Amino acid sequence: MTEDFSRSLERLRRARRVVALTGAGISAESGVPTFRGEGGLWRDYRAEDLATPDAFRRDPELVWEWYDWRRGLIAGCRPNRGHETLALWEGRFESCRVVTQNVDGLHRAAGSRGVICLHGDIWTVRCTGCGFETVDLTAPLPELPPRCRCGGLLRPGVVWFGEALPEKAFEAALEAVSRADVVLVAGTSGLVYPAAGLPAAARSAGTFLVEINLGRTPLSPLMDAILEGPSGQVLAELHDALET
Ligand code: OAD
Repeated sequence: MTEDFSRSLERLRRARRVVALTGAGISAESGVPTFRGEGGLWRDYRAEDLATPDAFRRDPELVWEWYDWRRGLIAGCRPNRGHETLALWEGRFESCRVVTQNVDGLHRAAGSRGVICLHGDIWTVRCTGCGFETVDLTAPLPELPPRCRCGGLLRPGVVWFGEALPEKAFEAALEAVSRADVVLVAGTSGLVYPAAGLPAAARSAGTFLVEINLGRTPLSPLMDAILEGPSGQVLAELHDALET
């Protein structure tokens, strides 16, 4: 057991409110590709071509093909021990809130309630004409690009580069990390703002910050403890240690 692990454990034992700020790395053990690093989506695809309002205006079919492919891939993935541990901790702490940049829905599938989705949800579709929004779990979609009943073009209910985060979700995230006793920052490269600014906000509020990642990130210098390893395994180890 490393010193950082013991200190994290000791803080968790005393914690009432825990927040997990998660990124693509927490779903990696489920088989969902991350964006950066080895095997990352942005190695083979350009965000400008696929994840911006301009890209959608230019070629909605191409954008939808990519999202439809990702929806199909995620549909075959199950939550891992990382998602499961955080869901279990809702019953262990006064609160254990998940704030995620992921759009895959795996925290919800694991049983976490009230997940704050900063970058939207890949299973939601929204009409660019009338604004109608619904969840559609069909994968693959029968027609690309999909259309609304009003005839308008549907778009994925995710946040693209150049778009604002859902205001209420970000405010709720800021409040949650500021009030938490411990914030776990798991599986994020910490490069995409404003989400990457949440650990600094937590730090200003005096929260104990723990990073769980395979390696170091630009957020590492802010951390009180760093637990290196796959998040599913590290979270399961923390859980086992809390139980003994
Ligand atoms: P990234 O792909 O940028 O980073 C994934 C992080 O997870 C890296 O720091 C990896 O070291 C780490 N990692 C990989 N496997 C892991 C594992 N098994 N356990 C723990 N850590 C692991 O993903 P995000 O930080 O989530 O935004 O990316 C942020 C945003 O950039 C995404 O939400 C998306 C993307 O472009 C939008 O689409 C708006």
